[in-house]
Amino acid sequence: MNHAILTVTVNPSLDKSTTFTGLIPEQKIRCTPPHYDAGGGGINVSKAIARLGGDSLCLFLAGGSSGDLLQRLVESEGIPTDVIRTKNSTRENLIALETGTNAQYRFGFPGAELTADEQHQVLEKIASNPAPYVVASGSLNEGLTPAFYAQIAKRVAEKGGRFIVDTSGEALAQTLEAGVFLAKPNVGELAKLVGTARLEIDEADDAARTLVDAGKAAIIVVSLGPQGAYLVSKNETHFVPAPNVHKRSTVGAGDSMVGGMVWALSQNKPLKEVLQWGVACGSAATMNEGTQLFKAVDVKRLFAWLSAR
Ligand SMILES: Nc1ncnc2c1ncn2[C@@H]1O[C@H](COP(=O)(O)OP(=O)(O)OP(=O)(O)O)[C@@H](O)[C@H]1O
Ligand SMILES: [Mg+2]
Repeated sequence: MNHAILTVTVNPSLDKSTTFTGLIPEQKIRCTPPHYDAGGGGINVSKAIARLGGDSLCLFLAGGSSGDLLQRLVESEGIPTDVIRTKNSTRENLIALETGTNAQYRFGFPGAELTADEQHQVLEKIASNPAPYVVASGSLNEGLTPAFYAQIAKRVAEKGGRFIVDTSGEALAQTLEAGVFLAKPNVGELAKLVGTARLEIDEADDAARTLVDAGKAAIIVVSLGPQGAYLVSKNETHFVPAPNVHKRSTVGAGDSMVGGMVWALSQNKPLKEVLQWGVACGSAATMNEGTQLFKAVDVKRLFAWLSAR
C-alpha cells in the first residue's frame, strides 16, 4: 500500500517510566512498576498523524527484546510499520518521577552503532518506498555520520518527494546543505545554524529567511516554545502565537508540532493553516503528563481558537 507520509526513526528508544520517593545515594531506591512507551522522533510524528486521523508508514530500526517490545507498542496504535532488524538491541531510556518534589529525571542512553549493512538498508528502503512526504526526526546513533540525514534528503529528492527534517547540531547543518522542503529548528537550534550565540524572538523570522534565500529549505518553521512559531517560505511569513494552556510536560511538543504540520501539508492546507495545526498540536501536547502526546479534542479546540483570531 502506498502511504502519503513516510516517517524515519534511525535511533528509537524504549522509554521506561516510573516513580519513586526520595533520591538518596547508596541506598536501594524502590520504583513503581514500569510503564513502557515507544520513543523516538519519527515514531512520535507517526503517532501524532494517527491521532489526527491520518496515515503514515513508520520506518524504524529495532533489535533485541527491547526492539520487539518497541515494535509491538507502535503497532498497538494501529500504525503501519516497516522494521529493519538490527544486530544491536534498541536502547532504553529511563524517565523517573520523584513524588515528593514532582521533579522528573530523564536518563537518556546513546543508541548502539549500526552496521554498514543496516545503514544501507535504510537508504534502500527510502528509495524503494517513495512517498510524497518523508519525515526524519530525532538524534543519530553513536558512530553514524552527521551526513546521514543529508543522504536521505538526496534519495527523497531523487524520487520527487518532499523531505522534512527535525534534528539539531551538525546533522541539521549538513542536511540543510543538501537542501530540504521543510526544517523545524527551535530558536536555539536556529541561532546555532546562522552562527550566533542568541537570537531574540523578533530576529527569528529574518534569520529563517536567510536560510530560505540561501536555498537550504523551501520552508523554515522556527518554534518558540510558549511564544508560538514563525513559518517562512519564499513568498510568505506567518506568525502564530501559542495558546495559553495549562502546561504539564513539554516532552514531545516538537514532534507533535511536526506531525500536525506534515498531516496538514498532506491535506494540501494553505501554509498559514499548516502552522496553526502545528502550534495547536505542539501546545496540546504540553497539556499532558510525561511522554504522552496530545488528545485530538484539545487540538481541535486550540485550532478553532487560533483560526478565529
Ligand atoms: N509552555 C508552552 N505552552 C504552550 N505551548 C507550548 C509550550 N511549549 C511548547 N509549546 C508548543 O509546542 C511547539 C514546539 O515547542 P518548542 O519550541 O519547545 O519545540 P522544541 O524545542 O523543538 O521541543 P522538543 O523539546 O520537543 O524538541 C511550540 O511552537 C508551541 O506551539
Ligand atoms: Mg525539537
